[in-house]
Amino acid sequence: MKKIQYQFEYLKYDNLSELDEERKNLVEISREIAHKAYVPYSNFHVGAAVLLDNGEIITGNNQENASYPVGICAERTLLSYVHANFPENKKLKLAVSVLDTDKDVSPCGLCRQSILEYENIQLQSIEIILHNNSGSVIIIPSASLLLPLHFDSEMLS
Ligand code: THU
Repeated sequence: MKKIQYQFEYLKYDNLSELDEERKNLVEISREIAHKAYVPYSNFHVGAAVLLDNGEIITGNNQENASYPVGICAERTLLSYVHANFPENKKLKLAVSVLDTDKDVSPCGLCRQSILEYENIQLQSIEIILHNNSGSVIIIPSASLLLPLHFDSEMLS
């Protein structure tokens, strides 16, 4: 028997203004689109913006439904659209902003798995930049760090 430990490091900034222009811009865009989230049931607005390797920034937000489980998080609304339309482009950085809490918020389990799928097929990490209403920012270098012992396509063969 052996004991295996898992740990990872991430950065936390107290204020958005501490970020470089590229990341700050991406976060601001994700915050803007959060205002348009369709959230009549939770009233919890989440916006996401992804920077592609061609320089384009694409946005999305959470989309809820009267049948609650049908609702889709901002990250997956965005990534499905992006991969449908820009399958050849690498997704470099993903900013996620929440408007309705000062707490640190991080992608749900389904979204972590979804981001990981795109990391795996592009053979490159996607940096995740998380922003909340207090203004603080967390930067996580890769979705794989958020999913220790994750399941992926390797296991299907
Ligand atoms: N939500 C997201 O959009 N992203 C997350 O990472 C966590 C949760 C949404 C789903 C639902 O519309 C609302 O936030 C409350 O859970």
